[in-house]
Amino acid sequence: MKTFYITTAIDYVNGSPHLGHAYEKVLTDVIARFRRQMGDSVYFLTGVDEHGQKVQQSAKKRGIAPQAFCDEVSQEFRAMCAKLNISNDDFIRTTEPRHKSVVSRLLQQLFDQGEIYKAEYQGFYSTRQEQFLQEKDRQPDGSWPEIFGEVTQITESNYFFKLAKYQDWLIQHLKENENFIFPRYRQKQVLEFLSEPLNDLCISRPRERLEWGIELPFDSGYVTYVWFDALVNYYSAVEDKPGIWPADFHVIGKDILVPPHAVYWPIMLKACGLPTPKSILAHGWWSINGTKMSKSTGNFVEPMAFADQYGVDALRFFMIREMSVGQDSDFSLNQFLSRYNSELANNLGNLVNRTLNMTNRFAGGVVPAPDATSLILEPERELHALWEKTREEFITLCEGFQFHIALERAFAFVTATNRYVEQRAPWKLGKSTEAADQALLRTSLATMAEALRLAASLLPAVMPTTTEKIYGVLGYTATGSWRERLVWDHRLTGAKVAETAILFPRPQAPEAGAAKA
Ligand code: ME8
Ligand code: MG
Repeated sequence: MKTFYITTAIDYVNGSPHLGHAYEKVLTDVIARFRRQMGDSVYFLTGVDEHGQKVQQSAKKRGIAPQAFCDEVSQEFRAMCAKLNISNDDFIRTTEPRHKSVVSRLLQQLFDQGEIYKAEYQGFYSTRQEQFLQEKDRQPDGSWPEIFGEVTQITESNYFFKLAKYQDWLIQHLKENENFIFPRYRQKQVLEFLSEPLNDLCISRPRERLEWGIELPFDSGYVTYVWFDALVNYYSAVEDKPGIWPADFHVIGKDILVPPHAVYWPIMLKACGLPTPKSILAHGWWSINGTKMSKSTGNFVEPMAFADQYGVDALRFFMIREMSVGQDSDFSLNQFLSRYNSELANNLGNLVNRTLNMTNRFAGGVVPAPDATSLILEPERELHALWEKTREEFITLCEGFQFHIALERAFAFVTATNRYVEQRAPWKLGKSTEAADQALLRTSLATMAEALRLAASLLPAVMPTTTEKIYGVLGYTATGSWRERLVWDHRLTGAKVAETAILFPRPQAPEAGAAKA
C-alpha cells in the first residue's frame, strides 16, 4: 500500500507565525490523523520557505545575515507546530543542503533537456510579489493593484522555463482528473486562467538584485526564483524515501493555488518526467473581527499566546468547527468564547463531570454493568441508534473534508447524551431502594459512561489531548483499531473512574495579543 503523503504550504519566514499559518497546520494535521485512524500509512511534511526578496529585506531591516535571521524565525514556526500538537513526520527548510541539491539537480536536468532558455526581458516588476507583471494585471484605470506594492520598469536578461508548451497537456490533465482540486469549484478558476495563452516562466533573478536564493547551476550570475525553489520542497524532502512520491494531498491557501500550485508545479514535474500530485486542497482565509489580518493595525492573533491562554485543543476545535473547508471565516474572541462555553465547557465538560460525579456517588467509582432488561428500553435504544447514525455520518463527513459538520454531529450526540442523563435522572434513582430502580441506575451510569467514551473516540483527530484526558478519567485504555473503538459494547464495565476532571477551565479575561472582541 502506498503511503498517503500530505503536505502544508511552507511558510515565509519574513515574519512570525500567525493564525492563518496555524489553521493550515491544524487542518492538515486533522486530515493526517484521520487518515491514520482509518488505517492508512501517512507521511506528513511541513516546513518553511526561507529564500527570496521578502526574507532578504526582513533580515536587512533587523541588521542580521539572512541565514541567522532564518535560523531564528524558522525556530518559531517549529515551536508553533510542537505547541499545536501537529503530528508532522518532517520539517523542511529550503536553506537545507538536502533541498538545495535537489533544486540544482532538477534545474540542470531541465536546462540540459532544453526546457530552460535565456532571453532578454523588458517590463514591469513587482518587488512585493516577486513577479513580472503583464498589461492584463493592470486595473481598468491603468494603475497596478495594491497587492503588487511598488511596481518598477526593468530590462534584464533572465532564464525562462518553457511553461507555455505544456498548456494543452495541463488542460487535458485537469479535465481527466476531476478530483485534482478541492473544492471542485476552484478547478474552474484554474481552467479560466488557462483559457488565455500561458507565458513562459522567468525562473531566475540576477544576483545584483537578489542575493538570497539558490544559485543557478548553469550560471552563477543568477539565483533561482523563489517559487521554483519553494515548490520543489514537497519532492526534495522525500525523494530518497521509497514509496512516498507523488504527493497525495497538498494543503494550501486559496491565494497560492493559481498559478503556483495548480499551474507551475504540475508542469515543472511533468517536464522533469516525475509523477504529478494527486490532489490539492485550497482552504479559505481567516479575517479577524471582520477585517484583514494585519500586524500594523494590531488586528492579529498570535497562535502561541492564544493557545497558552485558552488551551491548544480549544483553539484547534474552534478553527475546525468554525470554518467550512474552502470558505473564508472570521475569528472573533466573542465567537470563540461562545463556542468554548456552550460546546466545550457546558456540553462535553458537563457530561464528563456528571459521569464522574455520579459514578463516584452511586457506584463507588466503578462503572457498573448495565442491566440486560433495561437495555431494550426506549431511551437507551434511542441513544444507541443515534450513536450508530452519528458514527457513520461522522466518518463520511470527514472523508469529504466537512469537518465542521462532522464536529457538529459529534456534539449533537453529546447533547443527546446529556438529555438522556436528565431523562433517567440517576440522582433520583440512587435514592430509591427498589430493585427495578437500582437496575435502571446501573444501566444509566453504564450508558452515560459508554456514550462519553464513544463521543471522545470521535474527537482525537481534532482534540487529541482531550480524548486522552477523557479516556484517562474513565479508566479506559484504548486498544484495537479506531473503527473498533467506535463499537458500542460497554467495555468500560468494571473500570475505575477518576474523582474529578477539569477539561475546560473557565477562560481568563482577554489580554493584549489576543483578538479583541
Ligand atoms: O505563500 N488565513 O507563504 P505564506 C488562512 N511561502 N490562511 C492564510 C492566511 C489567512 N489569513 N494568511 C496566509 C507562502 N495563509 C509561500 C508558500 S508553498 C511551496 C510556498 C496561508 O507564509 C497561505 O494561504 O505567505 C499559505 O497557504 C500559507 O498560509 C503560507 O503563507
Ligand atoms: Mg502570503
